[in-house]
Amino acid sequence: MPTSTEAPPAVKSPVIPLDHTMDYLTWLRFANAGHFQHGNIAAMDHAIERMPGEYPILEIGSFAGLSANQITALKRRHGRTNLLFTCDPWVFERLDMNVKVGAHHVTFRQYADFIRDTYVRNVKFFSSDAPPISVRMFSEDFFRAWRAKEEVVDLVSGGMARLGGPIGFCFLDGSHEHGSVLRDFMNADEFLVSGGFVLFSDSGDAATGPDGKPWGSWKVAKEVEASRRYELVSKDPNYLFRKR
Ligand SMILES: C[S@@+](CC[C@H](N)C(=O)[O-])C[C@H]1O[C@@H](n2cnc3c(N)ncnc32)[C@H](O)[C@@H]1O
Repeated sequence: MPTSTEAPPAVKSPVIPLDHTMDYLTWLRFANAGHFQHGNIAAMDHAIERMPGEYPILEIGSFAGLSANQITALKRRHGRTNLLFTCDPWVFERLDMNVKVGAHHVTFRQYADFIRDTYVRNVKFFSSDAPPISVRMFSEDFFRAWRAKEEVVDLVSGGMARLGGPIGFCFLDGSHEHGSVLRDFMNADEFLVSGGFVLFSDSGDAATGPDGKPWGSWKVAKEVEASRRYELVSKDPNYLFRKR
């Protein structure tokens, strides 16, 4: 296992060209519901190409698997074999799950179960060559389990998977509330190796939440930028950082 102080790998020619990959990602998006943010593709591509060593990738907040499948596609493009771990509790906003969605016929429980099943089906199909290891947990519990190197149930394979160890890239797309994003970042930072990347979803300077105010993701990204512990790689519009 390489150490966190080793030099990042030399950038190699991609296995699959960018225009072919963009074509694939367009077809993926037609079939796989999710929260598409165009600039995330370039940011993820940059991180996946350059992340050091074989350290795993973490995704916080998976919904129906669009970004997990995008990450796998970009791993495939660059011939990277780093494992992808994802976590999501699939209980949206911790609402009363018995409430009907928009007063229509399905409850939030039914909706959440449907999205979780859809997630599994989507990653089994689009990431069949390298399925993610997916844990049904809130991120706080997930990081606690990661720290404790626990064995947990992988929702995708149905088997057990061991968590823990250094990570090379973290995509933060769970709760967008400031305190939660900050906790997610601090937890990711604990395990991220030097030269590793973190991408904040919905962190663009102009991005606002339902209340018209900037997302917590933007605030945390600005705090990370101010700390100078991380190099700002790009904001397109979301903030991508590399750990110094
Ligand atoms: C914006 S969506 C993620 C979109 C997804 N990455 C995609 O590509 O479509 C946010 C997701 O974060 C999940 N989430 C909310 N709070 C969370 C938490 N504390 N820990 C982990 N996931 C959380 C939600 O269940 C939801 O699926």
